[in-house]
Amino acid sequence: MSGITISVPGKLMLMGEHAVVYGRPCMVTAVDQRMKVSIELLDQPIFQLTAPDLNISHYQKSIGEVGKGKILKETKFAEIAVKNFSDKYKVTSGLAIKTQSDFSPKFGFGSSSAVTVGVIKALAELFKVKLTQKELFDLSYKTVLDVQGKGSGFDVAAAIYGGTLYFQTGGSIIEPLIIDGFNLVVGFSGIKADTVTMMSLVRTKMENYKTGVEKIFDNIGKLVNEGKMAILDKEWERLGTLMDYNQNYLEDLGVSTSKLNQMIAGAKAAGAYGAKLSGAGGGDCIIALVSAKSRYKVSQAIKKAGGQIIDTKVNAEGARREV
Ligand code: PMV
Repeated sequence: MSGITISVPGKLMLMGEHAVVYGRPCMVTAVDQRMKVSIELLDQPIFQLTAPDLNISHYQKSIGEVGKGKILKETKFAEIAVKNFSDKYKVTSGLAIKTQSDFSPKFGFGSSSAVTVGVIKALAELFKVKLTQKELFDLSYKTVLDVQGKGSGFDVAAAIYGGTLYFQTGGSIIEPLIIDGFNLVVGFSGIKADTVTMMSLVRTKMENYKTGVEKIFDNIGKLVNEGKMAILDKEWERLGTLMDYNQNYLEDLGVSTSKLNQMIAGAKAAGAYGAKLSGAGGGDCIIALVSAKSRYKVSQAIKKAGGQIIDTKVNAEGARREV
């Protein structure tokens, strides 16, 4: 039996969520809390999955049944990833997969896309299939769409490329940004958001108020483009203000919550350059842009508003082989 382990970073959306689903750009950064995916080849034609973070232990089925019939919510991404890889590269060996995450699946750090990327990259290495980063992106993104039906793929790109990316839906633009001196405080709201539900909510709003919502998306897209320049020019105060404007539009879209708003207000009052929710909204995390000097005070304020500080570094390395 031979095995392989791939580790994949989590991610945080910096600016542009929701609008990115409708063709506008966004910016995402990879975080140094990682998902590890280990795969071993088995002699028997079976598929095994152990994912302690999802309370899945020794889940097993015949390899021919992977991705078919009734599939557990928790095993979907890994199964469909295996199915898509096997269909494309005609491999049928038995597999034992184990996932282990540094971060809770509740944070919205992208555990589903990280597992997807980890499984496909590990299979490519095991079966000696040479994949470019874009080919890995395309197959992983297809897998995410097969499972959840929608999404821009920004999380898949962050998992593969790492660093900080300017991104357009489906990977039509994946542009690495050089960032330096970028200080974020991350606060978890304690509530797990459901990305697909939040996307549906925005879709309904879009259908009911098309002109107004399209305008919001346009404006968010412009903020992202200005934010990109502010990042490259290290203009943190300016970037903070752009993040605040982005947050206002997210509130207009109806995806912020009073808990998120309180954490954001606390961070701002304590001296953050800017603060906003990160991701689909409805829960998950906020990000606050801070100076080294204001970091402590901002963290305390977020805690006072009921948030949990997540100690993480941004701009982390993309998917890599561990052993
Ligand atoms: O909930 P998250 O952190 O996966 O972020 C979702 C961001 C959206 O723009 C709403 C969806 C997407 O796929 O871009």
